[in-house]
Amino acid sequence: MKDYNIQVINLKNASDEEYIALNKIINIIRKERQPDDPPIPLEETTNQLKNLPSFVDLKMWCVWNEDHSEMIAQGNVGLMRTEENKHLAQFDIIVHADYRRQGIGKQLYGLIVKAAQANHRRLLLTDTNDRIRAGEAFMLRLGAQRGLEGHVNQLRIADLDHQLIHEWIQQGEKNLTEFELGIWEGNYPQEQLQEIIELLDLTNQQPFGDLEVEEMHITPEQLVEMQKMDVARGNQRYTFYLLEEATGKFAGYTETVWNANRPEILRQDMTGVFPQFRGKGLGRWLKAAMLERQLKLHPEIKFVRTTNADTNAAMLRINNELGFKPYMTSILWQMEISQVLEYLNQ
Ligand SMILES: CC(C)(COP(=O)(O)OP(=O)(O)OC[C@H]1O[C@@H](n2cnc3c(N)ncnc32)[C@H](O)[C@@H]1OP(=O)(O)O)[C@@H](O)C(=O)NCCC(=O)NCCS
Repeated sequence: MKDYNIQVINLKNASDEEYIALNKIINIIRKERQPDDPPIPLEETTNQLKNLPSFVDLKMWCVWNEDHSEMIAQGNVGLMRTEENKHLAQFDIIVHADYRRQGIGKQLYGLIVKAAQANHRRLLLTDTNDRIRAGEAFMLRLGAQRGLEGHVNQLRIADLDHQLIHEWIQQGEKNLTEFELGIWEGNYPQEQLQEIIELLDLTNQQPFGDLEVEEMHITPEQLVEMQKMDVARGNQRYTFYLLEEATGKFAGYTETVWNANRPEILRQDMTGVFPQFRGKGLGRWLKAAMLERQLKLHPEIKFVRTTNADTNAAMLRINNELGFKPYMTSILWQMEISQVLEYLNQ
């Protein structure tokens, strides 16, 4: 490999030159992966990095070309300083297409593995997609295992059956004697954070395939920090929830994120209903009510995107009925550090 200049970047306090170069390489890879999507503005990248939550320990190495005029690659490793998953390190590597197959990815990977080892993490996680095939080839070369296979699924609003949305809402509203439908725009209400984190625990009920991960139980303090980062990067979160009237307890929720930097794309995040309330059409009601509201609020929306495990039959059923179609694959890979050392030492 040529002698490229690899530098650690201080993510919360980098120079303007570093933020600009980093944002540029991020968008070059984004264009390769999602050619129709708009680039991420510099301000969004910078604000996101400056507002990283304190429990996310993210270290990044950047690779510069010979005359230091362009960033040609970056690798990062993220360690969650949480009570759970102390065995994990998540990483990501991107290399500019003109500089691939020269060993840069391997070199960055070596630095990531060392940092994970120094922090006593034994399992590495990352994700790839079928838009850039090299990602999967790299994973196979490392000896990584597929932990969870899924897709980013997309709904084209031009194909949406508005009558179906209307019917799901009508059907759902028959439950109004039992449940109240509510919405939080933006931040969650401070006085209900304890109940809300219990609601968000529903994320643990998604399929995790063969991934060796533990359930995550976010704390109110962590949630507040995550919201702060979201707001800083311009994400507008909407949460529709259902409250059981008799007990005053949450029954389920759905969340979407809209960002003025890409007004045509609505991101659909988690939808979950507690097991005792399933089979009543509450999931359909939540999603239909959310879609109706968001399309009124932001008529610019042309696409809704969501990531689902291929085994998540319940969610896929609803999404398929709505007209979501596969947009790209999303494969989560895991690898034991003890196994990858052999490759690195070759
Ligand atoms: C995946 C990626 C980071 C690889 O970067 P790179 O600098 O080209 O990787 P390297 O040259 O260090 O290759 C590392 C090993 O993977 C193999 N490899 C990499 N790309 C490959 C491809 N397209 N086909 C077959 N093997 C490939 C190399 O041959 C090498 O094996 P070797 O050590 O036996 O020679 C780069 O293609 C990329 O940026 N892809 C988009 C982002 C992504 O998907 N990242 C993966 C998730 S972290």
